[in-house]
Amino acid sequence: MSMLICINGQFYPESEAQISVYDRGFQFGDGLYEVARVYSGQVFGLQEHLERMISGAKAIHIPLKWSIDDLRNIVLEVVQRNSIEDGLIYWQLTRGTALRTHAFPPSAQPNLIAYPLVFTPHPELAEKGINAVVEPDQRWLMCNVKSTNLLGNVLAKEAAKQKGAQEALLERTGYGVIEGSSSNLYIVRDGTIRTAPLSNLILPGITRHFVLQIAEKLDIPVRKEYFDRTQLYNAHEVFISSTSLEVMPVVQIDDRTIGAGKPGPITRKLQAGFRQLVN
Ligand code: PDD
Repeated sequence: MSMLICINGQFYPESEAQISVYDRGFQFGDGLYEVARVYSGQVFGLQEHLERMISGAKAIHIPLKWSIDDLRNIVLEVVQRNSIEDGLIYWQLTRGTALRTHAFPPSAQPNLIAYPLVFTPHPELAEKGINAVVEPDQRWLMCNVKSTNLLGNVLAKEAAKQKGAQEALLERTGYGVIEGSSSNLYIVRDGTIRTAPLSNLILPGITRHFVLQIAEKLDIPVRKEYFDRTQLYNAHEVFISSTSLEVMPVVQIDDRTIGAGKPGPITRKLQAGFRQLVN
């Protein structure tokens, strides 16, 4: 069935949805995006996703002509018009369309597009865990902004894929292994979770926000601290989180088996806590 795509508040069938070749998202990666999960017709963490986009727009000086309520209504209308029950919704805001010039063109009006993403759940991976590899973090210094410029993430994910792994864990010189190419990263040792603190070096994941809330509710201690590759390899459990993967165990990293080579008890508790939240 053809999707309905929203461009600046207007809906178009997929085959008629068009955006200019001069859109700055296309030319410069000069834009922001969000991916949210729809569970039983409800957009999970919608308020948090919208707030992250608004703070990203402030950080990169994109003037927003849509209020948070306008953005919410657009996202909800896309979900409703496309009858998404369980799936993913994507929306993207760029600085707009203008003849190519690096500095902000005064004439540009932001472009907002929104549409459902094809989503294939992989419950078997959540059961047995995934493999990952450590890759150098080659991204810029505003990784807290969910920018459409994803080249560093794309190159790392492809390197992981070439090595037969499902995720690249990014190592930033001087900090350690800080997050995944499209996920937040956690290690567990002696019952304590460790995850990188929020800073300009990682994305403040919406799933991370809820995972840390669940950990607090379950009295699982959390330290927001950096950790290095050796601590990663020697962890009792490793897991990642993201909108599409939820809480995903990592059972092998490079040529090392993590813990017992299967999802550990803390990861299991968080997976169960997350399922409760979304069901
Ligand atoms: N990726 N870190 C990075 C670099 C990410 O790209 C993502 C999400 C996350 C997790 O954030 P959240 O919990 O809000 O999904 C962390 C999305 C899903 C993507 O690019 O498709």
